[in-house]
Amino acid sequence: MSDQPTAPETDLDPFADLDRRRAEALAGGGEARVAKQHEKGKLTARERLDILLDPGSFQELGQFVRHQASGFGLENNRPYGDGVVTGWGTIDGRLVYVYSQDFTVFGGSLGLAHARKIVQLMQLALENGAPVIGLNDSGGARIQEGVAALGGYADLFLQNTLASGVVPQISAILGPCAGGAVYSPAITDFTFMARGTSYMFVTGPNVVKTVTNEVVTQEELGGADTHASRSGVAHRAYPNEAALLLGIRELMGYLPSNCEDPAPRGPASDPADRADAAIDTIIPESPSTPYDIHDVISRVVDGGDFFEIHPDFAENIVVGFARLGGRSVGIVANQPAVLAGVLDIDASVKGARFVRFCDAFNIPLVVFEDVPGFMPGTDQEWNGIIRHGAKLLYAFCEATVPKVTVITRKAYGGAYDVMNSKHIRADLNLAWPTAEIAVMGPKGAVEIIRRREIAAADDPAAAEAEFTEQYRQRFANPYVAAERGYVDDVIRPSETRRTLIRALDMLENKVQTLPKKKHGNLPL
Ligand code: HXC
Repeated sequence: MSDQPTAPETDLDPFADLDRRRAEALAGGGEARVAKQHEKGKLTARERLDILLDPGSFQELGQFVRHQASGFGLENNRPYGDGVVTGWGTIDGRLVYVYSQDFTVFGGSLGLAHARKIVQLMQLALENGAPVIGLNDSGGARIQEGVAALGGYADLFLQNTLASGVVPQISAILGPCAGGAVYSPAITDFTFMARGTSYMFVTGPNVVKTVTNEVVTQEELGGADTHASRSGVAHRAYPNEAALLLGIRELMGYLPSNCEDPAPRGPASDPADRADAAIDTIIPESPSTPYDIHDVISRVVDGGDFFEIHPDFAENIVVGFARLGGRSVGIVANQPAVLAGVLDIDASVKGARFVRFCDAFNIPLVVFEDVPGFMPGTDQEWNGIIRHGAKLLYAFCEATVPKVTVITRKAYGGAYDVMNSKHIRADLNLAWPTAEIAVMGPKGAVEIIRRREIAAADDPAAAEAEFTEQYRQRFANPYVAAERGYVDDVIRPSETRRTLIRALDMLENKVQTLPKKKHGNLPL
């Protein structure tokens, strides 16, 4: 890092002068700091861009920006770029805007000039309708700049909020992210972390120890696995930076550039009428035996490719991107293999946020439903399952993209309504013959509505079994709902792929509106 302001060197010809300044900018914080970065298993800001973007596509902006701050020796230390590389490039030929914080310059900390570079980039992205990808590696607010740095963060948070729902915003966490540095990623749509090198916390382990007396490591407090599996702050955790950056490239393939564009549609590489016979035997004979919903998803979608969001968090619901007939879709599926697929607080919030993202960016929703209801218990009630479950309900009600549901097995109680039922404007509701659509499962129902008769019976167990069977015959099938038109068709599982692709073709030009309003009031 230069410790002196760069003075014009009049003895150099202009081109040599430019070359020298560029070389200074490209050197970042210098060899020693770059070596330290590599020793930690981290790449430099520019090495990361090389992996993220199509080769040779990066065009830098503001390479010669320097801070104007003074105090604490800053006036003698004005490195080019101010600790962040900004610009545009392409991913698979499509325009993206990127910023990449340079930890070798002031620890990637955010001062006013640094913040302005990012904000200007985001304004360009907003005006030109292309995604913003932020590669974060920063010690937070630049301490020497004081309130100017805090103001810089606030400017960034405002831009993140204005861009929300207009262009996709993706955050990679590739180093420490403390204090204000976590709130920009938190506003963006997707946050990916790298194991062992990235951390996010509002306050680090030392402050935690002082305030709460808890002793915790950086990794435990805010490492990739903590946030990808416990807090849900991170949407995916990767083994290293390169894998993470390639993961962002993969994600971008499913997303439109902005909220006006349709979801991307590639060539239909997998035949629409491919019928996988194995899917017909996936549902176990016993309604209480679990199966893995991933086996259903992978057999239905193009090439079995599924880009899962939050794969390690609230695993009782599965969400992610796939393609059907080449068209990008958002999948939301209950997972019978985890907690029987019940909806709890985390699952509701995870599902709701994903549904809202898809709706904001014109990505059709395909729902696979096998849900016994909402999770009972004091823990859930006291922590607000009513409020949080309402988020998922609200998100599906509000979504105006094409919405198709496939009921594979249980659709019980409130969860039947919530999981994209026809009543809340699903366009098409399909059921497999194994579907059971009822207010509750047979055992619970019989214990309530036949309690007195069972108690009075000579053989209560036999009476209960008989009543349960009667109830099963009456309700534990899709035909009661189909007779009312709540289910549009009952199909064999192996017909699912073909039917979904036809449905999405049919819904291609769907237009649905919401009442005029400033914005709704999502139950937060
Ligand atoms: C200025 C900083 C800096 C900062 C790091 N550096 N953080 N400079 N402002 N916030 C500089 C260091 O002085 C050092 O400079 C270089 O970056 C590398 O830092 P090291 O400490 O040597 O690296 P490492 O050991 O890897 O530790 C990284 C770190 C630690 C964990 C990030 O530096 C740290 O704790 N920094 C402070 C984090 C913090 O509390 N930030 C403020 C958060 S509050 P040299 O010249 O030696 O290379 C906040 C408020 C925003 O962000 C509120 C908005 C709502």
